[in-house]
Amino acid sequence: MILLPIFLLFSIIGLSAASECPSGWIFNPSTTECYYFSTKLYTFDESVQFCSSIGGKSVSIDTYAERDALVAMTNTTMLQPWLGSRRNTTNNQFYNIDHSYFYSFMWTKNEPSVNGDCVTFKGATPFGLQVTQCYQFQPAFCKQTPALCNGGVFGGSDKWTGTIQSPGYPVQYYNNLNCNYLIISPNNTFITILFSPFLVEEWYDLVDVFDGNSTNYVDHIGQVSSYNLARGFESSTNMMTVRFKTNYDITDKGWLATWKAKKDMPVISQSGSNGTMVSPNYPLTYDSYDEQVYQISVAWGMQVNLTIDVFRTENKYDYLNIYNSTTQSNSTLVTTLSGQSVAPFNYISPRSYMSMKFVSDGSLQYTGWHAFWSIC
Ligand SMILES: *[C@@H]1O[C@H](CO)[C@@H](O)[C@H](O)[C@H]1NC(C)=O
Ligand SMILES: *[C@@H]1O[C@H](CO)[C@@H](O)[C@H](O)[C@H]1NC(C)=O
Ligand SMILES: *[C@@H]1O[C@H](CO)[C@@H](O)[C@H](O)[C@H]1NC(C)=O
Ligand SMILES: *[C@@H]1O[C@H](CO)[C@@H](O)[C@H](O)[C@H]1NC(C)=O
Ligand SMILES: *[C@@H]1O[C@H](CO)[C@@H](O)[C@H](O)[C@H]1NC(C)=O
Ligand SMILES: *[C@@H]1O[C@H](CO)[C@@H](O)[C@H](O)[C@H]1NC(C)=O
Ligand SMILES: *[C@@H]1O[C@H](CO)[C@@H](O)[C@H](O)[C@H]1NC(C)=O
Ligand SMILES: *[C@@H]1O[C@H](CO)[C@@H](O)[C@H](O)[C@H]1NC(C)=O
Repeated sequence: MILLPIFLLFSIIGLSAASECPSGWIFNPSTTECYYFSTKLYTFDESVQFCSSIGGKSVSIDTYAERDALVAMTNTTMLQPWLGSRRNTTNNQFYNIDHSYFYSFMWTKNEPSVNGDCVTFKGATPFGLQVTQCYQFQPAFCKQTPALCNGGVFGGSDKWTGTIQSPGYPVQYYNNLNCNYLIISPNNTFITILFSPFLVEEWYDLVDVFDGNSTNYVDHIGQVSSYNLARGFESSTNMMTVRFKTNYDITDKGWLATWKAKKDMPVISQSGSNGTMVSPNYPLTYDSYDEQVYQISVAWGMQVNLTIDVFRTENKYDYLNIYNSTTQSNSTLVTTLSGQSVAPFNYISPRSYMSMKFVSDGSLQYTGWHAFWSIC
């Protein structure tokens, strides 16, 4: 968590995100919105029209943070700009014309008065909202939300791996984000994803992983945190949605995630006194992106005597790992076999069990391998 350099971070964001606003608009890092303060003067109705003509809307105040941001932007301007707020003359209540919540306790001193039905913003102390006659000429004050998300659709029916990253990575992400990344992998595969590095304001800026094209609670797979980071996440179908939501302050460098499509290949398990194991499709060529696990377990006190008599794979890229345990990890890996000159190969397990994993990549498929085993 980064606490100290907030102001430094904001200024970095201000620089990098300035280009996210159209020219002439000002990016405000604390609200993550773009603002435009007109030099020309307009009536209230004209100012509403003007803002919409340049792709924005009249400013209405959404949060106290935004109120403070507006003060900082307007505390030295002589003319108070219009806000997108006015009086409903039927019930005498003020409201925001964009239907957002109207904060009735943000008025400046002695307001709301009867001196008008429209609202301007006073940046000088005592700052706040001020009633103004709608026909007066004041600057327009517009805002629009910049496109800060880098989300979208990733992968595709022929993509087996790829990366996604937070906006602004590896420099800094922004506040107030809600970005979705939909990952699609080939049919009949599922997706695994690993976040590394993962540098966010933990518990406040959240990365959630969902099954399918969804951000519904029922499809939630997990939330990325420093506790479960190393394990990664796995979808059950060939679509996964990653959602990145950030709060209103403190950001960090962000995250990079690598995803991989995996075929749903059930483990092949054998027991008894002897057996034969082969690569997928053997004696035909194996497929691309195979990842097949094999297990052999025999009676306690016996050992597995494995003999590979045929072996043909793409050297280095398509390989068979042999493990002296039922788990497949670096610490149980006995050897990695690959290429054309492996057979004949013999292995006797130290205990009554062993496992293997065959992995192929996207290019060059061969006929693979054939093995038999017996107990000894
Ligand atoms: C206006 O706001 C800025 C930013 O908060 C501040 O640095 C400055 O002192 C303020 N000026 C006045 C006259 O209040
Ligand atoms: C003004 O208030 C009246 C009475 O509450 C309501 O019916 C009407 O919809 C309001 N008009 C607007 C523009 O909000
Ligand atoms: C993948 O599955 C979808 C839906 O079942 C189908 O429409 C599409 O043609 C399939 N694509 C490929 C490349 O097999
Ligand atoms: C994902 O869901 C959204 C909203 O339901 C839909 O508009 C979009 O077409 C879907 N995308 C895919 C690839 O299914
Ligand atoms: C191999 O196993 C089968 C049963 O799966 C058994 O009938 C056969 O006798 C075994 N062969 C040897 C040489 O142990
Ligand atoms: C293991 O199997 C091979 C091939 O059948 C055989 O030559 C070898 O003697 C066996 N080793 C043991 C210790 O049983
Ligand atoms: C396992 O070993 C491979 C190759 O040496 C290495 O790239 C990988 O990072 C290791 N994995 C772990 C979890 O240590
Ligand atoms: C299993 O293999 C690992 C890695 O090669 C090795 O360190 C370990 O001693 C082996 N265990 C046994 C029981 O042979």
